Amino acid sequence: MEKSEMIDHARQVLRDNDRGSYTVPTHGLYPFQWNWDSALSALGFSHHDEARAWTEIATLLAHQWEDGMVPHIIFHQPDDGYFPGPEVWGTGRAVPTTGITQPPVAGFAVRRIHDRARDTALAAEQARALLPGIHAWHQWFYRCRDPQGTGLVALLHPWESGRDNSVDWDDAFSRVPTEGVGAFTRRDTTHANPAHRPTDEQYKRYIWLVQKFRSLGWDNSRLHDASPFQVVDPGFNAILIRSCHDVADLAQRLGMNAIAAESRAMADKGVAALETLWQEEQGQYLCFDRARGTLVDSPSIGGILPVFAPIPQDRVAALVRRIETLAESCEYLVPSHDPSTPEFDGLRYWRGPVWLIVNYMIADGLQRCGHGRMVDRILDDCLRLIETSGFAEYHDPITAEPCGGAHFTWTAAMVIEILNTHKVDA
Ligand code: GLC
Repeated sequence: MEKSEMIDHARQVLRDNDRGSYTVPTHGLYPFQWNWDSALSALGFSHHDEARAWTEIATLLAHQWEDGMVPHIIFHQPDDGYFPGPEVWGTGRAVPTTGITQPPVAGFAVRRIHDRARDTALAAEQARALLPGIHAWHQWFYRCRDPQGTGLVALLHPWESGRDNSVDWDDAFSRVPTEGVGAFTRRDTTHANPAHRPTDEQYKRYIWLVQKFRSLGWDNSRLHDASPFQVVDPGFNAILIRSCHDVADLAQRLGMNAIAAESRAMADKGVAALETLWQEEQGQYLCFDRARGTLVDSPSIGGILPVFAPIPQDRVAALVRRIETLAESCEYLVPSHDPSTPEFDGLRYWRGPVWLIVNYMIADGLQRCGHGRMVDRILDDCLRLIETSGFAEYHDPITAEPCGGAHFTWTAAMVIEILNTHKVDA
C-alpha cells in the first residue's frame, strides 16, 4: 500500500469514530470516550487538524474530578452495548464517568502537539489552558496513589493500567474476592471473540473492586489503603514520569514556573524510585505487588515501557538487548508478553499481542537514546502489521492475526503519526 493511501485510510478511521468533540476507540465494543485513547489519538489528528486535536484533549480534561483525577471513561451518551455502564459505577457525576483513571499520557501529548504546531498562537493558548489540569492530575496521583511518598504510584484496578488483562495482575487479582457480586451480562463478548477476552471469573473480580470503591463513596483519600489490589506498574509509572517531565519543560517555556518546578521534582523522584523495580536477572523492570510487598515475576512489556521515561542510558541499552531477545521468538515486535513463557497467548488481549501505541512509546524512548536501528525495526513492524491485517485493536506477534475491535482509532492515529514523523520503508 502507498504511504498516502495508508494515511487516507487511517484518516477515514478517525473520521468514522469522531463524535464531534471526542472520538470513540471503535464503534460497538467501546462506544464512549476513553482517557489514554483520546490523548494518543489527538496525535493523529494533529497532522491534519490541530484544532480538532486540541479539542480531543480539552474534552477529556473538562470531565476531570474536583480532586484532580481524570477518569478512564466518560459516558457522554447512553449506550447499552457496554458493560459495566454508569449505573454500575455510580459516581454521581452530571455527565457520568467511571471512578478510576488510566495512563496519564496527556502531558506528553500536549507537549508534542504544541512543539510541532503550525498554529503556534493556538498551541500556546491551548497548552496554557490545559497544563494546570494535567498538573493537578499528576499531583493527585502522587497524593492518592502513593500515600507513603515512595515516588511510585499504585494501580487499584487492572483497568487503570491500560494493559487490562496482563499476566502481571494475575497473582494479585486472584486475591480479590468474588462474593457478593450479583449476576450480570457481559457485552464485550458480543462484539469480540470471547477467546480473545478475559474470563467470566476475572469479570466478577473487576466488578467486586468497582462495588468496593463505590461503597466508599469514590473517596480517593480512602481507596488506596482499602483496596486488596495495589500494584505498582513500571510502565504506568514511566508514562506518568514522562508526562511530568514534559509538562515541566513546556510549563517553563510558557512562564508557568510553579508548575514547572513541581513537575520536575515529581519526575526526578519517580526516575530514582523506578530503580527499585529493575531486575537484573530478567534484564527488565518488574511490577511490585504493594499489598504483599513482593516483585511480580512476570516478564511483560510493562517492564520495557520505562524507556519512555528519562531513565539512565545503560538501562535503555539493557532493554534494547531484552527486545532483541524477544525478537527471536516472534515475527512482529514488541509482544506484550514474552513469547517464550507458558503464560504467553498471542490472541488474548495484553497477554501476548502487539499494540501500536505501546510500540510508539517504546520507539520514542529509544530514539532519544540513539537506538535508531531498533526504532526502525519496531516501526516497520507496525506498518507491516497494518498492511497485512488492517487497523485492528491489536495483532498476534507471530501470525499478525487481527484481534479485538476493528477500525480502531488509536491504531489509525499511530499509523498517521509514524508515517509523518519517521523515515520508513512503507
Ligand atoms: C481496552 C484496553 C485499554 C483501552 C480500551 C479502549 O480496554 O485494554 O487500554 O483504553 O480498550 O481502547
